[in-house]
Amino acid sequence: MKVSPTSAAARVKKLSAELHRHDRLYYVLAEPEISDEQYDALMRELQELEETFPALRAPDSPTQRVGGAPTKEFATVRHSVQMLSLANTYSEEEIRDFDRRVRSLLPPAEKLQYVCELKFDGVSLTLRYAGGLLQLGATRGDGTQGDDVTNNVRTIRTIPLRIPPGKGSVTDCEVRGEVVMFRKDFQRMNEERLEAGEKTFINPRNSTAGTLKLQDPKIVAARPLRFFAYALLADAKVPERHSDRLAMLGKMGFLVDTHAKRFGTIEDVVGHWKAWEAQRESLPFDIDGVVVKVDSFAQQERLGAIAKSPRWAIACKFASRSAETLLRGIRLQVGRIGTITPVADLEPVFIGGTTVSRASLYNEDYIRELDIRVGDTVIVERGGDVIPKVTGVKRDRRPRGLKKFMFPKKCPECGSSLHRLPEEAHYFCDNDECPMQIRGRILHWASRGAMDIQRLGDAVVDQLVTASLVKNVADLYDLHQKKDALLSMERWGEKSAQKLLDGITQSLTKPYSRVLYGIGIRHVGAGVVNVLCDAFPSAAALKEASLEELQAVHDVGPRIAASVHAFFRDPQHTRLLSRLAKAGLSLAAEKKKRSAALGALSGMTFVLTGTLSSMSRPEAQERIEAQGGKVVTAVSKQVRVLVVGEDPGSKVAKAEQLGVEMWDEQHLLSMLEKRKG
Ligand code: IVH
Repeated sequence: MKVSPTSAAARVKKLSAELHRHDRLYYVLAEPEISDEQYDALMRELQELEETFPALRAPDSPTQRVGGAPTKEFATVRHSVQMLSLANTYSEEEIRDFDRRVRSLLPPAEKLQYVCELKFDGVSLTLRYAGGLLQLGATRGDGTQGDDVTNNVRTIRTIPLRIPPGKGSVTDCEVRGEVVMFRKDFQRMNEERLEAGEKTFINPRNSTAGTLKLQDPKIVAARPLRFFAYALLADAKVPERHSDRLAMLGKMGFLVDTHAKRFGTIEDVVGHWKAWEAQRESLPFDIDGVVVKVDSFAQQERLGAIAKSPRWAIACKFASRSAETLLRGIRLQVGRIGTITPVADLEPVFIGGTTVSRASLYNEDYIRELDIRVGDTVIVERGGDVIPKVTGVKRDRRPRGLKKFMFPKKCPECGSSLHRLPEEAHYFCDNDECPMQIRGRILHWASRGAMDIQRLGDAVVDQLVTASLVKNVADLYDLHQKKDALLSMERWGEKSAQKLLDGITQSLTKPYSRVLYGIGIRHVGAGVVNVLCDAFPSAAALKEASLEELQAVHDVGPRIAASVHAFFRDPQHTRLLSRLAKAGLSLAAEKKKRSAALGALSGMTFVLTGTLSSMSRPEAQERIEAQGGKVVTAVSKQVRVLVVGEDPGSKVAKAEQLGVEMWDEQHLLSMLEKRKG
């Protein structure tokens, strides 16, 4: 169909406005109204129109988010106002000293208020806007000049490409803040990289820094970066108080710290700092402290700065999450698909509340790059909820004569030769019968996202595999006939054996998608499973699928397609699947309508907000759907119930406004249980 330039212009305008709105709904307000597919379709339509009519491509078009041409080298830019850093403290006493100093520099008895903000553990960034349009994004550099990373910055969805004019907004300004990566995004990205044999990142901060410096904005666009604004500089009249400027930034379309609080006394500031130290893990991103700022700008100006830090602010950091300790040895861990991961054996060291004696060393290249040697003093970091990592070596403390680490050539478990493909970062053990792989596959099958068999943890699986009772996941379903053998294992009694068998029986009710995830096909994570189940609703259909048919599915690339295809062509796997089917596991997706008619939540639409303590979000969705309910992401009049977990978002206010019923987790659980009775 031919489109005339005038109707194209109107359509481009409409699409741009829609996409901007959906970006904000999704990234800033976390309340999406449309699915990813619908969003992609709008974006594609806009891209096509702009390609046909290049004159219609506006500088703030949402298509600019997907990444332009690569940059060879970043230009250096001078900051209009120096990017200062903050004085740090770790002690309560020094926070009080800061308060005393501030008060001593202000007239006695003058009213003073502090704003406490989270100290984001990311990378600082400054943005320049002119006439509302984003002109420049630059890193801090040495504080006086930094790198021009504008093309990368454009791809970050929480950075407005255009600030809408109007009351309560300034269109010529500089906005400063921090780029971060949420822990879950970081973990997902690392898992994908691990599966793809690529190098993994150490922590969200490092991967943010590395991403901002990438030369190809298209790759940056695919990385989940977010920007939190914490300062607004402008010549025009802006609010006198920092707290009001933060609110203004929020109105201008920026993501700001919603936990920021104002206090009148240093006691409250200290209390706030301590409270956040205890609950830092409840946030979806890493913080390393709380920043305390004098709220009034007039006072800030009077206080001024010394050297590179202002006198009106201080970073109150949390106790360090890293420590130095001795690397006693390096052992190899064998994963469920044979991936070999080197793990550091450490002289136990106390970090942030726990004793750490093991830490990840990723892969051969990582050890080689840092030149980590057994006997070295190493730096160990423990971030958020992720496993500890060795992040550095104290070269100056290396004893003489330490040998370079040579990666073993044999599997420590079964003695098979290890091999490493040129394009992969990991070594592999190819022996399917390797006891560690068997163990890994069974643990994966029993994990929360798969069959969720709680009694089947590390120690039990170890015993079952060592006793040769279980070699693959299908063997679990024969254990009912081998109860005597179970009972003859050390520390096992009638009660524990029965509990395990009951757990295994319970797993028979799990839907096909869980089975497909649980059998652990390489490169097939939970997300891919859903896509595959929609396209091929049974194992039989999946087995029939050709490579081309698999690849034709949206989100299934050649790597995944090849892995799935090969899996179903291995006779050992077909045997396993037919045994699982015989045992009573579901190898085809249930017709949703049938269960819907039976369910206690039939015909009801739900939205979830906050964290549930007894189940993950996908699990809650699955259980609601199993009872005939439907789960959507945004609160609207059509929604019947908002399920409210810990730390709920703005959805509660919306639900209140619309009069939508609200359930807490307990109530949801009781409703889900109803059908059983
Ligand atoms: S204010 C002059 N606020 O901490 C004050 N900084 O040395 C400028 N940071 O790299 C900084 N969260 O990027 C401020 N809420 C926050 C912050 C924050 C993190 C970073 C900042 C800089 C370092 C301070």
